[in-house]
Amino acid sequence: EKVVLAFSGGLDTSVCAKLLQEKYGMEVITACVDVGQPEDEIKRPEEVANNIGVSKHYTIDAKDEFARDVIFKAVKANAMYEGYPLSTALARPLIAQKIVEIAKKEGAAAIAHGCTGKGNDQFRFESTIRSESSCDVIAPVRDLNLTRTEEMEYAKSNNIPLQSDKLYSIDENVWGRSIEGDILEDPMVEIPEEAFNWTRSSDDAPDEAQVVEMEFENGVPVALDGKKMKPLEIIKECNRIAGMHGIGRVDMLEDRIIGLKSRENYETPGAVFIITAHKALEQMTLTREELKFAEIVSQTYSELVYEGLWHEPLREDLDQLVDNMQKRVTGVVRVRLHKGGMRILGRKSPYSLYSQEAVSFEDKELDQREMTGMVKNYGLQAACFQKMRKND
Ligand code: ARG
Ligand code: SIN
Repeated sequence: EKVVLAFSGGLDTSVCAKLLQEKYGMEVITACVDVGQPEDEIKRPEEVANNIGVSKHYTIDAKDEFARDVIFKAVKANAMYEGYPLSTALARPLIAQKIVEIAKKEGAAAIAHGCTGKGNDQFRFESTIRSESSCDVIAPVRDLNLTRTEEMEYAKSNNIPLQSDKLYSIDENVWGRSIEGDILEDPMVEIPEEAFNWTRSSDDAPDEAQVVEMEFENGVPVALDGKKMKPLEIIKECNRIAGMHGIGRVDMLEDRIIGLKSRENYETPGAVFIITAHKALEQMTLTREELKFAEIVSQTYSELVYEGLWHEPLREDLDQLVDNMQKRVTGVVRVRLHKGGMRILGRKSPYSLYSQEAVSFEDKELDQREMTGMVKNYGLQAACFQKMRKND
């Protein structure tokens, strides 16, 4: 029986490939979906898969689609869960979607993933697989209740090649890098500098600040310093610039779907850079009511993404609302990056709702005297309450 395994060539999925052959007696087809992880993480899986002796390996390029159709939706919604820009969470439904397509093409009745039974990714993979197919789902690590140490022992005794330098459980795509496990499970242990790949520490960042102008159209970045770029390209460039200046390291205790608190470290320089600039432009172009509501939308949107509910119709409903609001989030934001910090220096937009004239203390157009009545009865209920309290 054929099974398609979502494959990264890391510890979990390599062990799964072998287990599916040996313990489950299945014909294994592996597939690595390129969502913008570093190039060697695209090539290496193929070698590992061949080494394990799978019957076929696919490499699927989904990185432009990921940038344009997934990440840019998240930018418009300022998607962030407890301070985490949702890099892993956003990629899982697309990866699962691609795996489903291969399963259909190969006539496989089963799909496998390498998730543990403790994390979030099992929810994200399986909800997509079940929305998009009627394939059976197999999760060997979870089925066999394996620990990481047991997985390493199994890998050793089955000659599965593993990278000895990979201590942590790492997930990467163009929107960010997630680092967890090993010594980082102790929340009081400081993450070692070697764990980072995309960001410099603020100590090592250039002494000289850099000023960048980011241009937005309809709520998404389209140019840096006047240079137009495609979605994937601009995200990569933002990662490079912000990473160099030590921006986008996140060390947090996160509340997983099942309720476990887990210690997570992220490197998401581009995401932090883009979302910060995006919010600055929204402050200028959206009304107070829109901004307040956008906060609520963002919260709900982020929870849906985190919880693996990408296929929930509410997500599409919210996208429509967000798209409509973002039609005016067009303009330029000037940002200064320096040693781990970021500061908005300026912003402009053809849809600006800011009126320098009206707000200026030098202007007489808005007649101050007309405010007297409005201000007089402002806070009426508070005044009633304070009087009542003094009386009893
Ligand atoms: N906690 C993050 C999330 O739920 C990252 C999970 C994947 N990380 C990993 N190292 N495998 O999105
Ligand atoms: C896993 O548990 O398989 C990875 C981490 C996660 O899903 O949250």
